[in-house]
Amino acid sequence: MKIIHVSAECYPIAKIGGLADVVGALPKYQQDKNTISEVIMPLYDNTFTNDNSFETIFNSQIIFGESTVNYSIVKLEDSTLQFPVYCVNIPDYLYKTYVYSNDDVDRFLLFQIAALDWILTLQQKPNVIHCHDHHTGLIPFMLQECFKYKELNTIPVVTTIHNAQYQGWFGYDKLHLIPKFNLDNIGLLDWDNCINPLATAIKCAWRVTTVSPTYMEELKVEANGLQHLLNHESKKCVGILNGIDTTVWNPETDNFLNYNYNISNLEKGKAANKEALCKQFNLDYDKPLFAFIGRLVGEKGADVLPFALEKALENNDCSVIVLGSGFENIQNHLSFLKSKYEGRYNVFIGYDEALSHQIYASADFLLMPSRVEPCGLNQLYALRYGTIPIVRNVGGLKDTVKDISQLNGFGICHNHVSVDNIYNAMLRGINLFDKTTTFKSIRKLIMQKDHSWFVSAKAYKTLYKSIK
Ligand code: ADP
Ligand code: GLC
Repeated sequence: MKIIHVSAECYPIAKIGGLADVVGALPKYQQDKNTISEVIMPLYDNTFTNDNSFETIFNSQIIFGESTVNYSIVKLEDSTLQFPVYCVNIPDYLYKTYVYSNDDVDRFLLFQIAALDWILTLQQKPNVIHCHDHHTGLIPFMLQECFKYKELNTIPVVTTIHNAQYQGWFGYDKLHLIPKFNLDNIGLLDWDNCINPLATAIKCAWRVTTVSPTYMEELKVEANGLQHLLNHESKKCVGILNGIDTTVWNPETDNFLNYNYNISNLEKGKAANKEALCKQFNLDYDKPLFAFIGRLVGEKGADVLPFALEKALENNDCSVIVLGSGFENIQNHLSFLKSKYEGRYNVFIGYDEALSHQIYASADFLLMPSRVEPCGLNQLYALRYGTIPIVRNVGGLKDTVKDISQLNGFGICHNHVSVDNIYNAMLRGINLFDKTTTFKSIRKLIMQKDHSWFVSAKAYKTLYKSIK
């Protein structure tokens, strides 16, 4: 079986968030002697591209409205990845420093057309095309409807929704950019009087998955306008929980860490990492250390976070480290707290892969007060590094974290994204930190949790095989 994943991001080639982690790991776990799993993604002008070699394997052109756009397919020459990665290089469009920009509609339309044009030329066609998020949402439609892809229309297409908040909407003024199709079926593109790639994918894909079972159920109630569609298509929808790449995320071998550790020297390893991080960020080392890593947006509860942190720092002996970027007002609020709680609070505004690993290894607790969390990978990385997650009961967080009040519980869960709810959860964390024996035994327990991709990669394979 040959599987091609089509995605805007793939770690380590280009990463904004969890989508990259998933597409950078799942194919690796799908390979076996009967299965080859590949990725096709855009080529961006970033550090990874500049530091690595790519071989050009195909050159062609796309007629795009009134213009002709040249593109090539390049293959990453890197055996460490363990699966083939092909990139679409469109110098005037995709090849920009930023993964996303304000001309994304044209960029991702071109990407999808180039990817399919290339697949059309392959001798060994894929048995499954697996699309990720709205950037690739028109592929199921184009395969089914566009005249030039007729030859590919028997290939099953799976669409995975990583986040239904973003749907890639655009107006009918760009309809002419889509390769020719029977206009009687134009309704497949439409949702609320605009072209909605995510809605189109839900209508046209052979199967639709979300990245956790609970998120699938939540979307049937509220999906930013798509809930009725998901209910209507529910027979082909299923939630499959994400896994993590346990080779990239392994405290024993992680090159980003100051000190490597495993279950047998967990306390020593975490203490050494915490000491180094606290020194670097001028934080009190002896106190419980809370961390937040992520996009500073409402979805992640980042707007409420500074208020809750302030309450915790004002009334308790604890330290806090934040890593993230996003809305300017949230960044400013988080930065403002620095001078107020110097020595116990610090924030790094920006994106820093190495620092994120160091924080997972150093923190005692990881905060995830998300309003929406389709799966969430941070809590899974935290578990693997012996850091206790404090999460809101939502989406994938609900599927992966069990409150300490329950039998075999190992995390702290709260129900609302409010200052008091987050603060009270932090208080529970401080109490737990003081009960040293229980605290340590929970750390040991969580490091042993298995969230590797093996189970979920199998679930995807079963899904592909079930498609008739
Ligand atoms: P989302 O994809 O919604 O942002 P996930 O929990 O699925 O959330 O994945 C987030 C990924 O991005 C994790 O690998 C996390 O460590 C990483 N990440 C988020 N923000 C930053 C940042 N500022 N610096 C480094 N890594 C980050
Ligand atoms: C999205 C979601 C996140 C999920 C990630 C990977 O970015 O917001 O919850 O973990 O995709 O599937």
